[in-house]
Amino acid sequence: MSPTRFVLDCDTGSDDAIAILAAASHPGLEPVAITTVGGNVALADVTANTLSVLGLVGADVPVYSGADRPYLRPDLPIPRDVLNKDSAFQLSRLGFGEPVSTARAEHAVDFLTRFYGDAASADAALVATGPLTNVALALTAEPGLAERIPRLVLMGGAHANGNVTAAAEFNFWADPEAAQVVLTAGIREVVIVPLDATHSAPLSERDCEVFERIGTPAAAGVAMLLRHRLEHDRAAAGSAPVHDPMCVAYLVRPDLFTEQVEASVSVETIGERTLGELLVDTRPWRSEPSNATVALRASTAVYRDFLRTAFAAG
Ligand code: RIB
Ligand code: CA
Repeated sequence: MSPTRFVLDCDTGSDDAIAILAAASHPGLEPVAITTVGGNVALADVTANTLSVLGLVGADVPVYSGADRPYLRPDLPIPRDVLNKDSAFQLSRLGFGEPVSTARAEHAVDFLTRFYGDAASADAALVATGPLTNVALALTAEPGLAERIPRLVLMGGAHANGNVTAAAEFNFWADPEAAQVVLTAGIREVVIVPLDATHSAPLSERDCEVFERIGTPAAAGVAMLLRHRLEHDRAAAGSAPVHDPMCVAYLVRPDLFTEQVEASVSVETIGERTLGELLVDTRPWRSEPSNATVALRASTAVYRDFLRTAFAAG
């Protein structure tokens, strides 16, 4: 069976980096290109982190740099340096050294419109693990593009508690207008991986030890990133959610999610206390048609098996 082809749009922080390493290592995955967007850290650092992570494993995947500010707003709702002030978790550089390659000259949005405008891309899913700015700009620039993206799997939102506010998860909060544009664009298959799913299958110190025993550069890099997350993003004693790799895992392990709903989804773009909130309408009598599958729980066993398969191969 040929590997699953996809484009990854990301804001490379540590969990995006683990997703990239898994995508570059897993025998069932073929990352065709990576587009970068400002999010966890500034765009230049996102792009440098992406190139450095690819360099760690010698992966020849073209990188296209994209939006460094939100779709409509001049900045995040709270500027990044204020949001990350005193944060030991969010590092501008991930520690994999300076990049040994450079991003392509073409802007990420131009790449996305060109790539999905080509019929040969009809089998390539789009995976988004950062704010949806690039995707929203491409959908706006190219009417009809939504019909040409066969499948969008994205990390974002929260049905229960958010992580930036009680209501909002970071990717949707950072650019709520972009998230609303993307979710209502009419892409035929949208799978949302919210915090509910990612927090239901956290990784642990034991996973670090397994990755370290594998001993490959990818596995050692993942162990380092996971240790950092365990130290600074602890969800429960001794475990930490690792959000973004779930999206690439789902491409080859459709059994990853143990609970999901079909819903009419939208994103709050005005609320003073709820800006960026994902609204998941499952009321049987709702007037809006379903426009997304929302994963609510994941299998830790399947997630671990995916990661170990990826990094044992890497
Ligand atoms: O809220 C978690 C999400 O925001 C993850 O994708 C993380 O990398 C950040 O982009
Ligand atoms: Ca991310």
